[in-house]
Amino acid sequence: MSEPESVASAASEVPPAPLDLDGEPRFAWRGVMLDVARHFRPLPDLLRFVDLLAAHGLNVLQLHLTDDQGWRFEVPAYPQLTAVGGRRSESQLGHGPESTLDGVPHEGSYTQAELRELVAHAAARGIRVVPEVDVPGHAKAILAAYPEFGVGDVEAVRARNAEPWTRYGINDEVLNVEGATLAFVCAVFDELCDVFDSDVVGFGGDEVRKDRWAADARTQQLMAERGLATEEELQAWFLAQVAGHLASRGRRVIGWDEMLEGADAAASALPADAVVASWRGPVGAELGARLGHDVVLCPDLWTYLDYRQSDAADEPIPVGTVLSLADVATFDPVPSDAPSTLRERVVGVQANVWTEHLDSRDRLDYAVFPRLGAFAEVAWNGGPLDWASFEQRLPAYLAWLDEQAVAYRPLDGPRPDQQRPGVPGAPRNRASRIDELERLTSSLRRAR
Ligand code: ACM
Repeated sequence: MSEPESVASAASEVPPAPLDLDGEPRFAWRGVMLDVARHFRPLPDLLRFVDLLAAHGLNVLQLHLTDDQGWRFEVPAYPQLTAVGGRRSESQLGHGPESTLDGVPHEGSYTQAELRELVAHAAARGIRVVPEVDVPGHAKAILAAYPEFGVGDVEAVRARNAEPWTRYGINDEVLNVEGATLAFVCAVFDELCDVFDSDVVGFGGDEVRKDRWAADARTQQLMAERGLATEEELQAWFLAQVAGHLASRGRRVIGWDEMLEGADAAASALPADAVVASWRGPVGAELGARLGHDVVLCPDLWTYLDYRQSDAADEPIPVGTVLSLADVATFDPVPSDAPSTLRERVVGVQANVWTEHLDSRDRLDYAVFPRLGAFAEVAWNGGPLDWASFEQRLPAYLAWLDEQAVAYRPLDGPRPDQQRPGVPGAPRNRASRIDELERLTSSLRRAR
């Protein structure tokens, strides 16, 4: 990956953030993933976001363009993707059993011209935009637009998917695995390759529920014809087909660590140059590295900037485990006892910003800053921060955020206008999340 290594190039109007970003960066990939599927952000907000990333010495923006709740990428041959898949009648308000629906339509998508402008704007600031279209799960917006790509009877798929999902969570809708569906997916990725010049393209692969594939006779027949023994192998096979197609376009893939599930069968092997985005603890990173893949570390416990910033009751719509500014500062991407294979294969780190509950630019600012300051120093310097020294830099950094009109979270908690009283959250406890990650990654632990 070739890149200018200065913090915020001359093209940026935003001066470099006053952080400890001297010398050579430890990681070539210093990324942020922004989810514009759950909540769309118009182009000017993306351009501003890119300026802020550049000022933090970051150099990758992974743009999560599609999910169950919305499709944001113009594909001229499939206009319904944005016309139908880009609009939902309302959105979940809050999280957990007490959540409600807000009754407010939400829509938006980017034209290809807008995305080309974003790519050029980012490139001028030393930032590569890595587009992501998430398959074969997180597919409900696709199926609202084109039900023929769903599993089972097309009229039943249509009836189940009148619009993108208005709720949040993991949906059981997945793409079917017919040749025509793969051809559609490859055509979409061709369009993506035309707009984005990144050598790495995201294909998702996360949280694919297997129930519909398991229960569908036609899917089972296709699995048998292809010599695939399990639905996990089918998922890997599907991803391998997409990766192979992208390779023919000179691109490599990045996918979430679920991409390694079932990928040890001969029929479903991933290309060696596929990059693993390891988000569910260290298991996917270590397995990916052992298999010779490059790895980007984005463990949710340290890098998910949608997770709540404190245990306090006034934290707006608290989800996930507590991830305070000080917690981000403890992120040690490659600890001294990490396997040497992992040490060799880690190309970078990434903070992920999922936007289910970030429905405005200010809400996004609140989640991202000032935690991104600590993350940027970890990404640049390669290890946890000296908190006492970071704390001394903090006043200047917060003043800088003020100058950039960033609506960050004050150190002592949200201002009244940043709170969301009455909107329920679903806070998680760290120990129970660690147990859950153990369970979720059990098949990766079994692999090889
Ligand atoms: C993810 O958080 N679903 C990658």
